Amino acid sequence: MTGPVGIAKGTGMLGTLIRWAVGAGIAGGAAFWVLTDPVTAPASATEGIVADPARGEVVFWAGGCASCHAAPEATGEAKLVLAGGRALETPFGTFRAPNISADPEAGIGAWTDHQFLNAMRHGVSPEGAFYYPAFPYTSYAKMTVEDVVSLRAFLATLPADATPSQPHDLALPFRLRRGVGLWNLMYLSSTWAVDAPDLTEVEAQGRYLAEALGHCGECHTPRDAFGGPVAARHLAGGPNPSGEGTIPGITPATLTWTEAEIAGYLMTGFTPEFDSAGGHMADVVQNLARLAPGDRDAIAAYLKRVPPVAP
Ligand code: HEC
Ligand code: HEC
Repeated sequence: MTGPVGIAKGTGMLGTLIRWAVGAGIAGGAAFWVLTDPVTAPASATEGIVADPARGEVVFWAGGCASCHAAPEATGEAKLVLAGGRALETPFGTFRAPNISADPEAGIGAWTDHQFLNAMRHGVSPEGAFYYPAFPYTSYAKMTVEDVVSLRAFLATLPADATPSQPHDLALPFRLRRGVGLWNLMYLSSTWAVDAPDLTEVEAQGRYLAEALGHCGECHTPRDAFGGPVAARHLAGGPNPSGEGTIPGITPATLTWTEAEIAGYLMTGFTPEFDSAGGHMADVVQNLARLAPGDRDAIAAYLKRVPPVAP
């Protein structure tokens, strides 16, 4: 050893510190990579499941796919052309719903049922990348495999359109899809928001329609700083994440309409005071109006069982 002992010792400590820091960095990076490894369904998950396209159509309207994936002003038959369209403004940037038409190149016509299941319930693309939760897979995660496969069969009957999907416009850190894996660990869950053990069959049907398909919480539940839903305030309302104003609470604390009035609103858009549904709710009503009356009644019955939370 040539240099003064003190310095050599100092360098040694520094070296140890650097090695520790690098080691921790690698371990942290490795942990990030492991924690954010996409979780997907086993290949056998869709085997032997029989598709029912008529049921798929119900899932399609209840799930509101056309609201985002058809051209924004589309009405009538044009709502069935899922060439992509709606731009979703969020604090993280603008997301544009892609082409999910039956076109094999521009759309999802070439996908297998298994790939579709992974997109809908796990938020993972055929290439193994994460989708952004602007696509409400966090709600669709609660769908049954039968409904996913039936929805896919219905989508396959809709027109193919070769319009390419438009890119998102996001701030830099949010362009890295891998980080969504951490977000999923925090917010992606298949447990019900309303998990009272004594729900009637009708209330449970309404819960499935509202939580798994209709994704009411995507708009009516307030979000935290990471854009995740605040579980304790399910459907309590809050600031509109993509624009002006607030979204009303629809727990029994604010929504005091009768079940029949709620079901009527979901059909016609008219409130008991004869105001009409505006904003994005007008679109939701157009979709829900296509369901059987019993489905709207079930959603109304479910809303009465949501824990009341003041806005
Ligand atoms: C609130 C708007 C919204 C609704 C409602 C919605 N989506 Fe999407 N969807 C998106 C966005 C945005 C993306 C893009 C996500 C990304 O790039 O990470 C997407 C992506 C997808 C993809 C992946 C497409 C690809 O090319 O990889 C599929 C499949 C899909 N949606 C199907 C559906 C179906 C089926 C429904 C109805 C049950 C639906 N979506 C409802 C916004 C929506
Ligand atoms: C894309 C966002 C969005 C989704 C999804 C959504 N809503 Fe709404 N909802 C709104 C907005 C915005 C309003 C306020 C409408 C207005 O101002 O006329 C509203 C209003 C309502 C109202 C009337 C409340 C009042 O006091 O006037 C009810 C009831 C309601 N929604 C129920 C539901 C149910 C049930 C679902 C799921 C099946 C749902 N909403 C899904 C955005 C949404």
